[in-house]
Amino acid sequence: MPNGSPQRDHWSGRLGFVLAAAGSAIGLGNLWKFPYITYQNDGGRFVLIYLVCILIVGLPMMCAEILIGRRAQSSVSNAFGTLGHRRWNFVGWIGVLSGFVILGFYAVIAGWSLNSFYECMKFSLEDRYVKPDFGNFVTNGSHQVALTFSFLVLTALIVVGGVSRGIERSTKVLMPVLLMILVYLAFSVTQLEGFGRALRFLFAPDFSEPFKTHGALEALGHAFFTLSLGMGAMITYGSYMTKKEKILPVSITIVLLDTAIALVACVIMFSIIFSFPQVEADIQASTVGMLFITIPELFYNDMPGGPILAPLFFVLVAFAALSSTISLLEVIVSSFVDRLGWTRERSTLVSTGLVFGLGILSALSLGASEPLSKLKLLGESGLNTIVTADKEGVLSILDHISANWLLPIGGLLITIYAGWVLPKKISLEELFPGRETPPWQYKVWLFFVRFVAPAAIGAIIIAVCRGDDFS
Ligand code: TRP
Repeated sequence: MPNGSPQRDHWSGRLGFVLAAAGSAIGLGNLWKFPYITYQNDGGRFVLIYLVCILIVGLPMMCAEILIGRRAQSSVSNAFGTLGHRRWNFVGWIGVLSGFVILGFYAVIAGWSLNSFYECMKFSLEDRYVKPDFGNFVTNGSHQVALTFSFLVLTALIVVGGVSRGIERSTKVLMPVLLMILVYLAFSVTQLEGFGRALRFLFAPDFSEPFKTHGALEALGHAFFTLSLGMGAMITYGSYMTKKEKILPVSITIVLLDTAIALVACVIMFSIIFSFPQVEADIQASTVGMLFITIPELFYNDMPGGPILAPLFFVLVAFAALSSTISLLEVIVSSFVDRLGWTRERSTLVSTGLVFGLGILSALSLGASEPLSKLKLLGESGLNTIVTADKEGVLSILDHISANWLLPIGGLLITIYAGWVLPKKISLEELFPGRETPPWQYKVWLFFVRFVAPAAIGAIIIAVCRGDDFS
C-alpha cells in the first residue's frame, strides 16, 4: 500500500500527531494508577525502576511502534502482513485482545472521574464540602455500571467520527489546560508540611529492604501501560502519520511529557497524603481511590480558587481518560474495519458492546457482587501467585493481566520484530529519511531494540516466574 494513500485519514500535522499520541499516553495511567501502585510498592525504588524501564525499554519501543505503523499504513492486525510478514499478524491480534481487556476495567475508573466532577460541582455550588464516602460509592453496582456505560458511549461517539475530526480536535485544547492546572497544584502543595516527606518517599530509594520481583514486573508493565505501548496503539496512531514528521523527536516529546505528568501527579498526591493523617487512613482503606480521595481534599482546604478548580480538574481527568480510551477503542475498531470489512459504525457498535459486557463484570467487582469481587483467576494454585500476584476480583485481575503480562509479552514480540525481522533499510529510512549511512542515534536505537529491551523484559519475566526477590 502506498504511503499516505489519499483514502486514509491523516493527522493534520505534527502538532496533531504529538497531541493525539500524548493524549493516548497521558491518562489514568499517570493520574490514577501510577500514584497508587507507587504507594503499594513503597515509593523510591519502584520509581527508580520505572524510570529506568521508561528510558531503556519505553523510548526505543515508542520509536519502533510508530515507525512500524507509519511504514505499514495499516491497522495493527495487518501491519506486519503489509510489511511482508504475514505470520507476525498474530501479534496484532494479541494487541486487539489487550485492547478489550484494558478497556474492560479502564472504562470503570474513567467513569469515576465523571462522578467526582459531579460531586465537586455540587460542593462548589452549595459552598460546603462533605468528604465523599468512597467505600460506599464503589460498592454501588448500578451506579458503577451506569458510569461505565456513559464513558463508553462518549468514547464510541468520538471514535465513530474518525481520526482527524473526532480525536485530534478535542485533544488540542484539553491537554494544555490539564497541564496548567497540574502545575498550579504542584506549586500550591509546596506549602504543605508533607511536601518534603513526599519528595523523600518518591526520590530517595531505600535499598536496605528486599524488593519483590513483582514490583519490578509492575514497574515494567506500567512503563508499557503509561506510554500506550505493547499492543499496537502507537502502531495504529503511527499509521495515520504523514512522512513529514520526524519519529525520534516526536517520541522523545511524548515520553518526556508523559513521565513529567506522572511524577508531578505523585508529588501532588503524596504531599496531600503526608500532610493530612485522616487522608492517609482513607488511602489505606481504599488505595485504588487515591486520586479521587486526595485531590478534593486539597481543593477544598482553603485553596485560592479551589471551588472553581475542583470541578474543572475532574473534567480534565475525564478528558485525559477519554483521549486514552479513544486510542484503545481505535485499535480494535480499525482492525475490524481493515480485516473484517465492516463499516466504522458497525465495528464501533460491536466492539463497544463487547467491552461493555466486560465492563459490567469489572464494575460489579468492587464489592457490589461478592463472587465477582472475590474471584481468583487460577484458584489457589502456585501459578495464581505468579500470574496474578494474588489479585482478587475481575477489575484488578484484568488490570494486572493486561499490564503485567499481555503488554510486556506483546512488547517483547514487537521489539524483536523491529530489531531482528524488519529489514534495517526500512527502519533507517523511517527514522532518518534520506540518510545512506546510519547516524549514531540510529545505531544506539538499534542496539536498544535488539538487545537491551528484549533482555530487560526477558530478565524480569524470568525472575518473576522463579519467584526471586531482589535485595
Ligand atoms: N496510556 C494510557 C494511560 O496511561 C492508557 C492507554 C491508552 C493504553 N491506550 C493504551 C495502555 C494502549 C496500553 C495500550 O492512561
